[in-house]
Amino acid sequence: MSNLAFGIDLGTGNIKIYNTARDAIVNEKNMIALMKKDILFAYGDAAFDMFEKAPQNITVSYPLVNGVIADIGNMTTVLTEFINEITDGRGGGADYFVTVPTDVTEVEKRAFYDLIKDSGLKPRKIMMSEKSLADGLGMGINVKTSQGVLVVDVGFETTEISVLSLGGIVLSKLLKSGGRKFDDAIRGIIRKEFGLMVGEKTAEQVKIELTATEAQHKPAVVYGRDLVTGLPVERSIPTDLIDSTIAETAAVIVDNIKVILERTPPELSADIYRQGIYLTGGSASLAHLDELIVKGTALKVNKADNPQESAAFGLARIIKDPSFRSVAYTIDDMTEEV
Ligand SMILES: Nc1ncnc2c1ncn2[C@@H]1O[C@H](COP(=O)(O)OP(=O)(O)OP(=O)(O)O)[C@@H](O)[C@H]1O
Ligand SMILES: [Mg+2]
Repeated sequence: MSNLAFGIDLGTGNIKIYNTARDAIVNEKNMIALMKKDILFAYGDAAFDMFEKAPQNITVSYPLVNGVIADIGNMTTVLTEFINEITDGRGGGADYFVTVPTDVTEVEKRAFYDLIKDSGLKPRKIMMSEKSLADGLGMGINVKTSQGVLVVDVGFETTEISVLSLGGIVLSKLLKSGGRKFDDAIRGIIRKEFGLMVGEKTAEQVKIELTATEAQHKPAVVYGRDLVTGLPVERSIPTDLIDSTIAETAAVIVDNIKVILERTPPELSADIYRQGIYLTGGSASLAHLDELIVKGTALKVNKADNPQESAAFGLARIIKDPSFRSVAYTIDDMTEEV
């Protein structure tokens, strides 16, 4: 395959870009830091490093909100910087494959196409793929021939629950809940029970390290600002308190999986029963989430090996294997549907 191609999974938290030149996925924070509101200061992981730490003249933000493009200008900047970085500025004429959420408006979907078309990257071709189909392919499922596949992608600000069958999507629901909700809940409980203000990054760290912390039978140690004295302090947070917070927050996800299962045609339900649920997205790694889903649905849960990159890996399969090309479509196909 000669032509340069990119597979882009734009997440609310992380941008993943597969490229054929290196046959690899770049995965960084989908963030931008601007000085005086319009001078590019940093992007990606470098911008995230400044998050919650930057002085007032530097604004750090996410260009996507709840899975859709909220700031097209900033998203264009982040994307073009990454593409130029990957290609040394020689990315013109490449093919672009981009994931789109299913349960959003046509205008929101089209924005993913327009982003690339109007980016100045001079694309040769732009193809779109529903994110859940790319996720399925990335988890090794032949989505073209499989029937009744339930994919749950728990990301940063969203959870997408989809039933796939024979290369299409039977049902899909996008929830405004993902990893960030768990971080917020952990911050909330630490504030309430310990009178301590911790940052978003600290709460996320506690969450990510929870499996390891529990294995050591230790409390989670956090640093923050005491709400009464205003001074920096260290506190030990019992892990069972964090566990119960996670369970409460996960209930929304589990309940919505049940709603989708209730609406699934019976023949497909039978397939889902046999295969189990496919769990992916970065938050698939969250401690106890798989157990909570098993408990709530009485179904088996298959966790992706590399959950953050399932969709980008699926795009790589679409790019590399012509037999999966039909999983992607062009904007013309989309307009016909309207
Ligand atoms: N080991 C871990 N345990 C718990 N959560 C984790 C772990 N590793 C990553 N995460 C969480 O995964 C989330 C990011 O996942 P991902 O990159 O799939 O999201 P995204 O694609 O950017 O967001 P979205 O799909 O919602 O737009 C973050 O909330 C992060 O805290
Ligand atoms: Mg995602």
